[in-house]
Amino acid sequence: TDFETILVETRGRVGWITLNRPEALNALNSQVMRDVVAAAEEFDADDSIGAIVVTGSERAFAAGADIKEMADKTGLEMVMGDHFGAWGRFAAVRTPVIAAVSGYALGGGCELAMMCDIILAADTAQFGQPEINLAVIPGMGGTQRLIRAVGYYKAAELVLTGRIMKADEAERAGLVSRVVPASDLLDEAHKTAEIIAAKSLPSVYAAKAALDAAMETSLAEGLRFERHVFASLFDTADQKEGMAAFREKRSPDFTHR
Ligand code: HXC
Repeated sequence: TDFETILVETRGRVGWITLNRPEALNALNSQVMRDVVAAAEEFDADDSIGAIVVTGSERAFAAGADIKEMADKTGLEMVMGDHFGAWGRFAAVRTPVIAAVSGYALGGGCELAMMCDIILAADTAQFGQPEINLAVIPGMGGTQRLIRAVGYYKAAELVLTGRIMKADEAERAGLVSRVVPASDLLDEAHKTAEIIAAKSLPSVYAAKAALDAAMETSLAEGLRFERHVFASLFDTADQKEGMAAFREKRSPDFTHR
């Protein structure tokens, strides 16, 4: 498939999506949404892909939703165009997604990173939800996922003041999985993706589904879900192989990946 606003590449078992609107610091307009969703769904449907990396440029992961595209819209147009709805399909892919963030991850950019499963940040990364400065609020998950990531008080301060935080603060707050030197970001993202892509795919899907459940359900319900999914993996050949390999002190040779 051809894409207008992103670069797409397959490296081994890892699918790469690079946001490519340098003239707008990768601002997320509707074409970017369509492109990223389509690319992620294509990778997700492909069993030879075991992990996806989403990244931007050195200067910007994404500086937000495209303000120029939104500025003149009416509320009715935002509703009827379901302006940001399709991002839900990106968040719903079963394949783990790593956000490799360098530079600005603001507004929709921060929200896009939070739709991913792992956030690797360059030491140059900056995160924030500055929408309040435009007299709007986050609209792609910023009030919901940020609270779950960093807690109410940190999230409320960021959303209400629009303050931007640097990578080290974001890591301390729990928004970032790991901070690495900017020059290592893409290598680290690829290594992390390859580690995941080498696992048995059914167990990776199950792990992501159970982690997602934790964000949405009560503890009792989440534990029940986890126990059932855990049990279901004992019907895979890969589980037998993984545990046999452990007993035989060798590396496992998984088939479903
Ligand atoms: C459209 C954008 C943009 C954006 C930057 N650009 N961010 N265009 N939408 N979100 C464009 C600029 O207009 C400019 O193009 C070019 O990218 C370079 O940006 P500069 O501002 O010249 O760069 P710099 O001075 O380095 O400042 C970088 C910046 C600033 C601090 C990131 O661009 C900025 O504040 N951007 C907006 C950040 C923001 O408010 N994000 C939240 C958006 S609302 P031209 O051609 O003009 O020179 C949002 C809502 C999400 O995300 C939820 C959905 C409702």
